[in-house]
Amino acid sequence: MKTLTRVAEMQTAAVGLRGAGKRLGFVPTMGALHEGHLALVRRAKQECDVAIVSIFVNPAQFGPGEDYRSYPRDFERDSEFLRREGVDLLFAPPVEEIYPAGFQTYATVEPVGAPLEGEARPGHFRGVATVVLKLFNIVQPHRAYFGQKDAQQCAVVRQLVRDLNLGVEIVVCPIVREPDGLAMSSRNAYLDPDERQAARVLYESLCRARELMQGGERRAQVIAGEMRRLIAQEPRARLDYVAVVDADTFEPVERIGGRLVIPLAVWVGRARLLDNLLVEERDGQLSFKL
Ligand code: PAJ
Repeated sequence: MKTLTRVAEMQTAAVGLRGAGKRLGFVPTMGALHEGHLALVRRAKQECDVAIVSIFVNPAQFGPGEDYRSYPRDFERDSEFLRREGVDLLFAPPVEEIYPAGFQTYATVEPVGAPLEGEARPGHFRGVATVVLKLFNIVQPHRAYFGQKDAQQCAVVRQLVRDLNLGVEIVVCPIVREPDGLAMSSRNAYLDPDERQAARVLYESLCRARELMQGGERRAQVIAGEMRRLIAQEPRARLDYVAVVDADTFEPVERIGGRLVIPLAVWVGRARLLDNLLVEERDGQLSFKL
């Protein structure tokens, strides 16, 4: 595995590889890697000739008072993981390389990025869209891999690619979970043992939502209400939001049908945890991705 830290080096390598007819698969990350990230890497390895991973904790997507400074960073451990997976290129630029003095251009993806995470974290998706656009211009991948874990981020990135004709194929991979159902996340490291137990309530509430729909419930309000009730019973959890939205537009829906997502954000201790359930209706039958 070769590690590159300069934009110019990465761009030159990408142009060379594309010119040699290679299919480039790209996994953007902020490091603190876990099995969720590695699942994306394995998929890129399977489907492409060259696997490129970036590690960059993007200051533009953190709000003031958020965890940019304390976000877990362990470059040696991460690069060892990636080497073992057979990654070809690791792009790990310093902040000044991505945001040099005088930087002033940002991408805004709204309305899809406006509600929920967009509302809870003003400027977050502007930071995500900007860095993803820059990384695509630098790495020039044919395909890029994202996790369903961050469902609204996936919708924002797809919209960005469509609107700006980026010509990158976006592949969304299933959520990788701990044995008890908790979605893997770099921020799970913030949980103490009691909070870790309490954090199961996110998955449990999504399972309950699925059970209601399997039993024929189609009213979004009833499903979200039941999830709120379950989360309120866990004293260590504080609900930020739960919603039932269209999977592409993130507009609220009233009845279950079509392709939709039930995303939720819950505070447990100092960790703000995300999870979601994807529901797809085909020929009147619902299928669930959890
Ligand atoms: P990060 O949180 O490091 O996540 C990198 C990728 O891994 C994202 O696409 C995320 O959805 C995916 N991922 C995280 N946990 C996962 C899990 N449990 N199962 C499956 N996939 C999972 O998301 C970001 O970084 C940043 O916003 C980024 C896109 C890199 C832009 O800065």
